Formats: sequence, C-alpha cells, structure tokens
Amino acid sequence: MDSERFLQEILAPVHEFCQALDGRPPAYSYVPLKTDGERIRVMQSRLFNELRAADLFGTWLRTTPELDVKATMAESAHEEMVHAGLLSKRIRDLGTDPFDYKPLPAQIAMFNAMEGLNETCERIAGFSLAGETVANYLIQMCLRSPDVPEWIKQPYRKITEDEEGHGSVPQGFLKRYATTDERQDKVRRAVAMRMVLFREYLASLDRWAMGQERW
Ligand SMILES: [Fe+2]
Ligand SMILES: [Fe+2]
Repeated sequence: MDSERFLQEILAPVHEFCQALDGRPPAYSYVPLKTDGERIRVMQSRLFNELRAADLFGTWLRTTPELDVKATMAESAHEEMVHAGLLSKRIRDLGTDPFDYKPLPAQIAMFNAMEGLNETCERIAGFSLAGETVANYLIQMCLRSPDVPEWIKQPYRKITEDEEGHGSVPQGFLKRYATTDERQDKVRRAVAMRMVLFREYLASLDRWAMGQERW
C-alpha cells in the first residue's frame, strides 16, 4: 500500500477514538474533575507517564538503527524529563508528594506492552503516533475548557509546545520506513493494541481519580 494511504488508514481509528471522547471528557483531560484532590491524582498519574515515556525512549536508543529516529528519540527522552519536572514541581508546590502514587494496573500494562515492541515502525506507531495523538488531543481539550483551573493549564501550555511535533514527526518516519507489507502489518497491530490499552487506562483513571475506586 502506498505510504500516504497507509498513514490515513492507521490514523483513522486514532481520530475516531479521540472524537468518541468529545462527548464524555475523561479524567485524564482534567475537564470533569471537581476537586483539587482529584486533579492532583490525575497529575500524579500523568507525571508517571512522562517519566515512563522518557525511560522508553531512552531504552530504545540502542536498538534503533535509523539515525534520524534515534536522534528524535533522544530528544524526546529529554523533553519528557522536562515535562516530568514541570508536573512534579506543580504537585510539590501544592504540598503533595508527586511520587506518592502507585501506577494503575492498566497503566503498567500499557507501558509494558509498548516496551515489548521490538521494531522501529511499531514502536513509533504504537507509542508516538497513537499515544501522543490522543494525549495531545486531550491536552487541547483541557486548555480550552473553562472548568480547568489555571494552575493546571500553566504547565500544559509549555508541554503542548513540545508535544505538537510529536504527532507529525512520527508520521514522517512511518512514511519513510513502514514501506513493506510486513512492517505495515506490525504497525496496524501496534496501533490497535495501543488503543485497547489506552482505553482501559483512561477508564481506570476515571474510576480511581474520581473516587469511585480505591487503588
Ligand atoms: Fe510529555
Ligand atoms: Fe510526549
């Protein structure tokens, strides 16, 4: 399949996933949250994601032969650490320990599954393309919402400047490298897996952050 058509095909379920969240914003977006306690819980969970993302990008460097992808991953690892710094400072300033957080089972499963992807294209597709596209969509939802307080929006305004590129750069890499049937098939599967796992993480975060479930 030619690379442009292929890209549109794999992006379709990701965009559908995003649009399905419009009517019912998840806790992850901060939009439905009512108390600062809930907001801090979500921020702690998202801080964990930033750190785990940095770990993953770093872990993959050695097994990424494509020099342009490797360079982007190294840069991304640094950016995710900067994001982690912003979020942990914000949480600490509010008097809470940013790391007093146990990752949700679905969150651990999601990252462990991503870590198990062994090939450049599936990593880019599952982690960067699918994951960051949804994450950025929800950050925009957060920044637009009048229900989200300014102290939350502040760090995310900085984060979104970096993350904007994380959507388009992976598209370019996939066009360049996902050029065989075998790779394209792996990419489809990685995106599908990420969507399943992301959906469950968002649902778990809803239950836990909004107090209906202890963890
Ligand atoms: Fe980030
Ligand atoms: Fe990112």
